Amino acid sequence: MEGMSRSPPAGSYSNGHHHKLLGGGTAQRDHFRSRRSRQSGVTRVSSGQQETEAPPPCTDFDKAYFQSYSHVGIHEEMIKDRVRTETYKTAILQHQSYIQGKVVVDVGCGTGILSIFCAQAGAKRVYAVDASEIALQANEVVKANNLSDTVIVLHGRVEDVQIDEEVDVIVSEWMGYMLLYESMLGSVIVARDRWLRPGGLILPSNAVLYMAPVTHPDRYAESIDFWRNVYGIDMSPIMPLAKQCAFEEPSVETISGENVLTWPHVVKHVDCYTITLQELESVTTNFKFQSMMRAPFHGFAFWFDVEFCGPAAENDAPSSESTKSNPRRKRANPSEALVLSTAPEDPPTHWQQTMIYFYDPIEVEQDQVIDGKVTLTQSKENARFMNIHLEYASGGRSFVKECVLR
Ligand SMILES: C[S@@+](CC[C@H](N)C(=O)[O-])C[C@H]1O[C@@H](n2cnc3c(N)ncnc32)[C@H](O)[C@@H]1O
Repeated sequence: MEGMSRSPPAGSYSNGHHHKLLGGGTAQRDHFRSRRSRQSGVTRVSSGQQETEAPPPCTDFDKAYFQSYSHVGIHEEMIKDRVRTETYKTAILQHQSYIQGKVVVDVGCGTGILSIFCAQAGAKRVYAVDASEIALQANEVVKANNLSDTVIVLHGRVEDVQIDEEVDVIVSEWMGYMLLYESMLGSVIVARDRWLRPGGLILPSNAVLYMAPVTHPDRYAESIDFWRNVYGIDMSPIMPLAKQCAFEEPSVETISGENVLTWPHVVKHVDCYTITLQELESVTTNFKFQSMMRAPFHGFAFWFDVEFCGPAAENDAPSSESTKSNPRRKRANPSEALVLSTAPEDPPTHWQQTMIYFYDPIEVEQDQVIDGKVTLTQSKENARFMNIHLEYASGGRSFVKECVLR
């Protein structure tokens, strides 16, 4: 490849089988205990929320999902991701004056770390909700830190537990690979529509999913070209199988900014204050890139940012109805928003980037156009999986790629 400096991939290849989320299947046992709310002195506020609507069923896939979060390793990995955890801590401290004396719900509290950050920031009460058995550990951590009067751990689904008051703040770390994998954002939407008071704060407030064409000759050489000459033996007949095994499904790995051929394209902008469950079922976008260099084009990378903006100014605070009809409402200090980025040019996180590779690279010239369309759809089989349909064309040839992030 001409005119490019290259660096080896910094991360290991996990091919989507990262332990953050278990694959499909049936949970070994039903550990799910709903409605185990332990509320102390909370007064119920009638808020016109969807109390009468039946919660969605907790499927075997959901049970397997919550089971996957009962292992400590997954929480250790997330907490050790300093970019992630320190950005959340900073965001909570940045909004301390808002959080002080307020009621918070932590959607998917895990070990309770974000709930405790909120309690330390002066929250009056924090509902720490998690359907996984890790909630039992969170409760012990809360006790060990003498915060039982402030942090109320609810072991159950956000969709099932009861909180008998409005909340001022929702905090949640809901982002999956490619932002939308895991479909946990849906539970944040449920929490928002059930409990958040108008003008309340959601952390993070918004998110953007990006994509860009990528060149990655080292990765291709390591997985495919390797078979050309193995200890002097021509093993190239294995190459088609190697391509299938390496590149059939999305691959979660760390690339660098040098792998990226163009400016990124925004696939989806998520405003956590206004996004609906329906919008998340399927996302489609048309893209048009122009390669900034001559290079073999190996596939597309996806990554995301989330932002921690303040809530709408009080006098500007709409009801939940007008929020929906006015998605562009102004928030305080949007220019000072803190950003958690998983971009290739930024420090790596446990989310890495999600790669969709082609079986064979396309040689592109500088300024060559790459255009097409991508559709991301929640899998009908398991809404936590994501079906990816990619149509792309360049240099007079067009292609279709279908894969599943599972
Ligand atoms: C990515 S982890 C974040 C854990 C913790 N907040 C942290 O930052 O370390 C997401 C957690 O949300 C929980 N979760 C996901 N969906 C949920 C739901 N609908 N109701 C309750 N808990 C949920 C999972 O069990 C998991 O522990």
